[in-house]
Parts: sequence; structure tokens; C-alpha cells
Amino acid sequence: MSSFTLIPPSPLLPLVFSLLAALSIAAFQPADNFLLACGAASPVALHDGRLLLPDLSSSAFLSAPRSTALSAPSPAPSPLYRTVRAFHLPSSYLFPLHSSAARNGLLLRLHFHPFPSPSLNLSAALFNVSAGGAPLLSLFSPTAAPLAKEFFFKPNSTSLRLAFSPASPSSFAFINAIELLSAPDRLFSDDFTPIPSSFSFYGAPLSHHLLETLYRINVGGPAVTPENDTLWRNWEPDDKYLWTPSRTKSVAFTNEIKYPNGGTTPEIAPEFVYGTAREMNKGNSSNSSSPSDYFNITWNFPVANSVHGYFIRFHFCDIISKALGELFFNVYINGYSAYKDLDLSSQSSFTLASPYYIDFVVMNRSNTGSINISVGPAEQSLPWKMNALLNGLEIMKINGIVSFSKEDKKKLLVGTVIAIVLGSIAFLCGLVVMVLTLLPQKEIKDQVAQSRDADTWSPLPVITENSYRRLIELTNASPSTNANLQLRVPFAEILLATNNFDEKALVGAGGFGKVYKGVLRNGTKIAVKRGVRGSQQGLGEFQTEIEVLSKIRHHHLVSLIGYCEEQAEMILVYDFMEKGPLRDHLYGSKNPSLTWKQRLEICIGSARGLHYLHTGSAQGIIHRDVKSSNILLDENYTAKVADFGLSKLGTDSNQGHVSTGVKGSFGYLDPEYFKTQQLTDKSDVYSFGVVLLEVLCARPVIDQSLPWEQINLAEWAMQWQKKRLLDRIIDPSLKGKTDRKSLKKYGEMVEKCLAQYGIDRPTMGDVLWNLEYALQLHERAVHQEPYGDSISGTSDVSSSCPAGSSMTNNNTAERNDISVGDATTHVFS
Ligand SMILES: *[C@@H]1O[C@H](CO)[C@@H](O)[C@H](O)[C@H]1NC(C)=O
Ligand SMILES: *[C@@H]1O[C@H](CO)[C@@H](O)[C@H](O)[C@H]1NC(C)=O
Ligand SMILES: *[C@@H]1O[C@H](CO)[C@@H](O)[C@H](O)[C@H]1NC(C)=O
Ligand SMILES: *[C@@H]1O[C@H](CO)[C@@H](O)[C@H](O)[C@H]1NC(C)=O
Ligand SMILES: *[C@@H]1O[C@H](CO)[C@@H](O)[C@H](O)[C@H]1NC(C)=O
Ligand SMILES: *[C@@H]1O[C@H](CO)[C@@H](O)[C@H](O)[C@H]1NC(C)=O
Ligand SMILES: *[C@@H]1O[C@H](CO)[C@@H](O)[C@H](O)[C@H]1NC(C)=O
Ligand SMILES: *[C@@H]1O[C@H](CO)[C@@H](O)[C@H](O)[C@H]1NC(C)=O
Ligand SMILES: *[C@@H]1O[C@H](CO)[C@@H](O)[C@H](O)[C@H]1NC(C)=O
Repeated sequence: MSSFTLIPPSPLLPLVFSLLAALSIAAFQPADNFLLACGAASPVALHDGRLLLPDLSSSAFLSAPRSTALSAPSPAPSPLYRTVRAFHLPSSYLFPLHSSAARNGLLLRLHFHPFPSPSLNLSAALFNVSAGGAPLLSLFSPTAAPLAKEFFFKPNSTSLRLAFSPASPSSFAFINAIELLSAPDRLFSDDFTPIPSSFSFYGAPLSHHLLETLYRINVGGPAVTPENDTLWRNWEPDDKYLWTPSRTKSVAFTNEIKYPNGGTTPEIAPEFVYGTAREMNKGNSSNSSSPSDYFNITWNFPVANSVHGYFIRFHFCDIISKALGELFFNVYINGYSAYKDLDLSSQSSFTLASPYYIDFVVMNRSNTGSINISVGPAEQSLPWKMNALLNGLEIMKINGIVSFSKEDKKKLLVGTVIAIVLGSIAFLCGLVVMVLTLLPQKEIKDQVAQSRDADTWSPLPVITENSYRRLIELTNASPSTNANLQLRVPFAEILLATNNFDEKALVGAGGFGKVYKGVLRNGTKIAVKRGVRGSQQGLGEFQTEIEVLSKIRHHHLVSLIGYCEEQAEMILVYDFMEKGPLRDHLYGSKNPSLTWKQRLEICIGSARGLHYLHTGSAQGIIHRDVKSSNILLDENYTAKVADFGLSKLGTDSNQGHVSTGVKGSFGYLDPEYFKTQQLTDKSDVYSFGVVLLEVLCARPVIDQSLPWEQINLAEWAMQWQKKRLLDRIIDPSLKGKTDRKSLKKYGEMVEKCLAQYGIDRPTMGDVLWNLEYALQLHERAVHQEPYGDSISGTSDVSSSCPAGSSMTNNNTAERNDISVGDATTHVFS
């Protein structure tokens, strides 16, 4: 290590330099790249091929009223420490910067080595250093050994003043070498998970703080020096921080490390880091499941007891598994569960040996003067597959004011959270309790009273096995100290799931914002609706949606699986609906056209969802924006009603309506509501009637390109229905493939839904029953006379009103539920 090269200025210099540069593995070219040998008279070449320029001949402007340049008397430990500049008065370097510096940030390395010198006792130095006015080092006195301090920050102007101030007139400052280089894009971003997770980080985003590197570890491998690092960093081995070395072993990988597209890059950490790791040493008993095989690998890093937060980056790369999905492990920071059941194979690339990193910010240092990092096998691992690994680790101190807050500042959603927690507890205690929780006595009485009415499908809260389990998984996947069941999803998870809101993942856009497809770490496909930040209307809808959807779960309503409101984001996370909006299966797309049976089943599903909405929850909910683009289809064409942003909770049951400003979608809007501004559940029935016409006729509800009498689907279709000739205008692809009686039933029901006055319209329950009936007529016809349209007109059981046949109706519904309802857990059947 003692050799260094002092290259004399010569015409060959550029050639030598470029040769050296070519040898170095660094592909990243920083826009700003200052390398200063302070106090040097000529350029100094580093082992990694880079060249330091004398500080006086660099483009950084040195302002030093009284300074001394010194050279090491004996060979220095590295060319970096060959020379020094000492400042006896406040002094500074001014670095001109590219504009990208403010965006991507800068890496600053300051090198100090108080080598023995006859003219100045460098060990006696005591000084402050600041960058752009922000303090980096205070009352600093470098120790005898060479020392490098590294910082990351985003400058707020196009030049940076690096200032050195002696602590007293008799004191002085010094510096051996300076590296100032632009960081690659997104080296550090604001996507991290707070620990403990009950805290959140507020105030300036993390990337606006100054980070000081404390530890950078190549776990299970040798030191990685600047020549083998993409950003000329140093990575030290982990041995001296390891708690029980004998219980661990290091592994090295000789094949190629596969950096994922659009994910972790070699600049995050080089393959020298990802290619080595430490895993559990289970010795010869590798196939036993004895308790002694169940332990953590722990590292302990001393840190100063200060009020700073710490940024911790874990580098992982599964170089030990033989197959995907073998390895599950837990990650702990200071005894907190930071990541439970981490499954590296489920990360974006789905390959082994693919690098992956996770960032945490430790909010609450436990006053013990150290940070403990552990990885240990997950309980769910197979006994002989139990293992855990870590490839690299970085710990940085967050300088400046770091603000943390307890979650309960989020007053808005407390009710929601309580509802969820209560709901989940109730679920665990038993579904009956759950039903009672969600349906207060009064409501039950109301329903008993209502059961005089024709329909009594049990409007029970149906939590499907699936959605419940997902909820649990999701909350487990997110760091949690105690098992509080929240729907809150860390922003980082969402960025991960959507690949940083990759435009390729965009599946839709609307008034509220954009919708992206994503995949959670556990493999669940999700739809991520990202609201336009700062929109007041958006905020209202966002809150309504959470409020409504957290109260109710039903097989035919989309499930909200989480939300995120970190950093002014308004993000809703739903189950992903593979087949998208119903509308796209009716017209205007290349989707194959749906059969009459499929259409009826979709309408039945949607009606069931709306019926549940109207009657199933304590307050009754009016959707207010029923339309074909708000009915989504999953991979089995099961219909789910979506978009509750406009919905209204709490119809006053005495009045039966709520007064509101008119909202909804043109073409679907209930004319009575429009006139009176009084909203009832019959407004949804009207809109649903329009959807039924859309389904039948496969055309938009408003089509300006048509002759004027045809523009409005509802008006036009009703003219034909009144003449009992609705079949003339149905979707051509249905012609001859629908049973006549089924169609007749359907048309009559649509007509009732579109009645002028709400009071004349059927309830959603009636609609549901009539649709069921229309489906039965169709099925029967198909079975008796395939594709026939000549069924006799005598068995028209209950064409006008389903009243008086509630038992039959009920049975029909139940039967249908059982046969169709694959994932539905029907509570009272
Ligand atoms: C240099 O300064 C340090 C700190 O003040 C002191 O401990 C040390 O004895 C000094 N060395 C010499 C050679 O004076
Ligand atoms: C830049 O930041 C420093 C300290 O962080 C502050 O004193 C200075 O006013 C800022 N400059 C601008 C232009 O915002
Ligand atoms: C150095 O930093 C300390 C602590 O931040 C401060 O109290 C002191 O005034 C600073 N000294 C100079 C000369 O800037
Ligand atoms: C850099 O990597 C090469 C290839 O693995 C290795 O031979 C060399 O020793 C490494 N250099 C340092 C300084 O770690
Ligand atoms: C483990 O196996 C090795 C060789 O297979 C053997 O030398 C060693 O004694 C064994 N250790 C124990 C604790 O059984
Ligand atoms: C370990 O034991 C399990 C069953 O106990 C067996 O399925 C598995 O193949 C064994 N693995 C090894 C490596 O022997
Ligand atoms: C770190 O782990 C060690 C060993 O498990 C333990 O003794 C120590 O108290 C822990 N420290 C912290 C800060 O958790
Ligand atoms: C690993 O450490 C965490 C945190 O200290 C602890 O909760 C957990 O029980 C440990 N696991 C094992 C297997 O010892
Ligand atoms: C840090 O944790 C301790 C207990 O572990 C707690 O008493 C203290 O309030 C926490 N500090 C903050 C800032 O929350």
C-alpha cells in the first residue's frame, strides 16, 4: 500500500490518464468531478486510475488568507495523504457546479491524515467544516490514523462553498484531499421505511438532509476499494462487527450478478458487494430442525449517542438458493422487526442472484450507543431451508433537524383504522360477532321490517377469505412492531410495486388521477390509484373512498387493500381487476363480445354489489356514480362495483334522502335528482338502468355522432321499449342468441328503473331478482331448445312484481350464490 505514483507533467499525461481510466471499472461519469490534492505541487495518480489535481490549479477557487502546504516526510499510506494544506484563518474552496447537482446530489469525501511534520503538529488541529453554509464537522480534530469523511447532500445553488474555520485564533484547520462528485440519479431517494413503523418522517424530505456515511460494509467478503467500486467508495469487511462469527459463514458467488432492469444498479453497489454474503452456519446438522438452528446473525455498530436519525440501507442478493422461493427471512434493526418474511425471489426480477436493496430510517435510537442489525430465518421456512443472508450494509447519519411524528397525528383516518381493527378482531372472534358489529340493532330491526318487501337477500357483510388473508399478509409484509392491522401502505412499497410509477404500468387515467398496475412483494396484483397531489376535490373523494371501502367488503365491490398518504400523496390500492371496466367489453375496444349469459351474470353481480351497498351497511350508502366504466371485471368476469369517491354515507333514514350538490356522470344522471337535488338510492337504480341499456345495446350512453334522436341512449331505447320493440336496437352480436322472454323481462325492468320518479322505480333488490329471473329464462330456453326463440308465452311467472314470492326469490339467490360464488363465503347459507 505504500507505493504511489507522482506523474510529472508530460505530453504523455493525457494518454496515461486515459489508459488508467480505461482500466478502471467505473462506467458512471459524474457531471461534476473535482479531485483535489491539497497542498500538492503536481498531479497525483490514485491506484484506481483517477488523477488528483493540485488544489491551486483546479477550477475550484481557493480563498485562503494564510495557509501552509506540507508534504509527508515518509511514504504515505495512500497517494491521497501525500500532501496537506493547513489553514490558519477561515478559508474556503468554491466549486462551480452543473445544474444536475441540485437534482441528483453530490458525494463529498474529505481526507484527513495528520502525518508527522517538523513544521506543524497536525494532531493539534481543531476546526469546523461547512458546505454551502451547512455544518459538516464541528470542533473536529483528526486522529492519528488516516480518515475519510463522506457526505451526501443536494446543494441549493450552482456553486458550493466548502469552508474551513479554525476553532480558535491559535488553532488551525487542514485537509489532505477532496473528492466532490455528482451522484447518479436516485442514489438516495425518499423511498424508505421508518423504524419503528408507528412513526413517520415529516418536514423536509430525507434527500434534503445531509447524510454522513458511518459504515459501509461488504458483508461476508473482503474490503472493496475504490478501484473496484462504481463510485470509488470503500467497503469494509464485516468481521469486526459480527456478534457470533462461528455461527455464520461467508459465501462467494462466482457466476454473473444479474442487475434487474430498472431496479438496483451497479452504482447502488458493485457486484463485488452483491457477490459475497454471510449466511447461517448450520454445520453438519443442516437437515435438522433443532432449536439451535433457529437463530439470528447479528452485527453491532457503535454510533454516537446523539439525536440524529440514521439511514440504513440493506443490500441483498440471493446467491445461496438453488431455486426461487426457498429463502424467507426476517430483518431486525435494534430489535424492531424491520422486514418480516422477506422473500428475495418475489422481488421485481424473479431471478436468483439479482441485487435488491431496502432503505430504512431509524427514528428512535435506543440510547445504547450502537445499532444492532440482525437477520434470521422466518418461522414459515421449511426446517431444512432455514437460512438468512446479508450482502452489504450502509449506515448513514442524518444531519440536521429530523422530524418524526407519531401516527396519531393523522386524525382523519383514525376512525377508519379503528373500523378495520374492530372488523378484523370481529372476524377472528367469529362472523356472527362481525355481523352484529356492522349491523346495529336498529338496522336489523329495519331489515326485519323491510322483509315485508319482496326481496330479502341477506345483505350480509361478506369478507371473502381471500381479501381477509391479503389484508393480513399486507400488514405483515409492512414493517410492524406490534400486529396492528392498518391499511396504511408505505409509499416505498407502492413505488416498489409500480416500479416507481413506471408509465408502462399505467392502466388508466381519470379525474382523480392515474391508475397503475403493480405487484406487491407477496405477488398480489394490485391497482394503484394515484390522486393528483394537492387537489381539494381529490382529497374529499380520497377520504370518502377510504371511509366507504374500509367499512364494507363484498364479493361484488372492489376491495381496498390499502392506502398511502405519505408526503401529500393520495394513493389507493385495490385488488387488480384483470379484465378492466365493463365498458371496454361492450364497445370501443377489441375485446370479444360477451354472450347474453355473461352479460346477465355481470349485471347480476353489479346489482348484488349495489344492493349490498344500499342495504348492507349500517348507514346505507348511495354510490352516486354508477356507470359501465365503474364496474370492473376480474379474471373470471366477476363484476365488482368500483369508485366510491362520490358516494354518500348516512342517508337520513327519517327523510330517506340527502340533499347535495348534483354530482354524477352525464347520461347516467337521475332526472329527478337533477331537479330536486335530493339524493336517494333510487338515483343509483336509474343510473344502473342506463348501464343495463348499455349492456344490451353495446353503445355509449351519449353518442354525439348519431342522429339527434339517438344521441341519448336512455331516451332512444325507451321509445323502442314503449313500442315493445327493444330487440330491434340490441347489440347485433346478440341477435338470435337471446331468449325472447329473457329479453322481454330485461326490457321491462329497464323501463321501470328509468321511471321518471324514484318512487316508481324498483329497489336494487327487485332489480337483482328480475335479472336472476331473466337469466333463468335464458338458461331454460337454452337447455330446452338451444338457440331457440320460440318459447311459449304461458310460463311468465312473475313478470311485473316480485312481491309475494320472497321465499322463492331468496332461494333463487342462494342457489345462485352457491353455484356461482367461487370465493364467496356466504355467511348465512
Ligand atoms: C501534537 O498535539 C497533540 C494534541 O495537542 C499532542 O497530544 C501531541 O503531544 C503533540 N505532538 C507533538 C510532537 O508535539
Ligand atoms: C442554501 O442553504 C443554506 C444553508 O443550508 C442557506 O443558508 C442558504 O440561504 C440557502 N441558499 C439558497 C439560495 O436557498
Ligand atoms: C464551530 O462549531 C461549533 C459547534 O457547532 C460552534 O459552536 C462554533 O462557534 C464554531 N466555530 C467557528 C469558528 O465557526
Ligand atoms: C479488484 O478486483 C479484482 C478482480 O476481482 C481483484 O483481483 C483485485 O484484487 C481487486 N482489487 C482490490 C484493491 O480490491
Ligand atoms: C462435521 O462434518 C465434518 C466432515 O464431514 C467432520 O469433520 C466434523 O467433525 C463434523 N462436525 C460435527 C460437529 O459433527
Ligand atoms: C431434509 O429432510 C426433509 C424431510 O425431513 C427432506 O424432504 C429433504 O429432502 C431433506 N433435505 C436434505 C438436503 O437432506
Ligand atoms: C445488540 O445485540 C446484543 C446481542 O444480542 C445485545 O446484547 C445488545 O443489547 C443489543 N443492543 C441493542 C442496541 O439492541
Ligand atoms: C432475532 O432477533 C429479534 C430481535 O431481537 C428477535 O425478536 C427474534 O426472536 C430473534 N430470532 C431468533 C430466531 O432468535
Ligand atoms: C424511544 O423509545 C423509548 C422506548 O423504547 C420511548 O420511551 C421513547 O419515547 C422513544 N422516543 C421517541 C422520540 O419516540
